Amino acid sequence: MKKIVAVVGSFRENSFNKQLALKVKEMMKGEAELEVLEYSDVPLFNEDIEFPAPKEVSRVREKIKAADGVWFFTPEYNHSYPGVLKNLLDWLSRPVSQEEPQVLFGKAAAMSGAAYGMPGTATAQEYLIPLLFFFNMRLMNSPRVTVGNIGEQLDQNGKVQLSPNSAKFLEDQVKAFLAFTD
Ligand SMILES: Cc1cc2nc3c(=O)[nH]c(=O)nc-3n(C[C@H](O)[C@H](O)[C@H](O)COP(=O)(O)O)c2cc1C
Repeated sequence: MKKIVAVVGSFRENSFNKQLALKVKEMMKGEAELEVLEYSDVPLFNEDIEFPAPKEVSRVREKIKAADGVWFFTPEYNHSYPGVLKNLLDWLSRPVSQEEPQVLFGKAAAMSGAAYGMPGTATAQEYLIPLLFFFNMRLMNSPRVTVGNIGEQLDQNGKVQLSPNSAKFLEDQVKAFLAFTD
């Protein structure tokens, strides 16, 4: 079965973007396994500690290497993507060793996001796109899903309850990405 790694740009327990990732996991059931990458233990990047890589960094690199695709679920922070995501990508962009190149090269990628603002992470995604191309990731640029006004798509407990429209867009993206990773 296909393996998809979800990289969520928020460490928040109740993260809407993590919930979006978990909805995609449900939608993929039977066709692909989606694992939300745990990377809150990855240290701040510092060339002084780059080699040998800290074990937390080696662990996430192995997850990415083993994946058929990487799906980014990014919040929007100040019209860009969050720093924790940039820190992770800085680590992943570096060669594993003198013999082994970086792990993102040629890897299939998809992108979605949820935000309080109406554009729903559109600007954050516009900043993330060139970065992924810079790493030579194989980004599925369309469809990408932007769930805006997420505050209006919550149940009484504050859990994401997607509108039929948003759910349909996400289902279409799931189908497209499964085909893209073939
Ligand atoms: C530092 C910071 C900056 C933010 N900037 C934006 C923004 O530019 N646009 C927007 O729609 N929401 C912005 N927000 C609100 C986020 O959409 C909201 O906090 C969202 O829930 C974050 O995603 P998460 O639920 O996955 O953690 C910002 C939030 C924080 C903490």
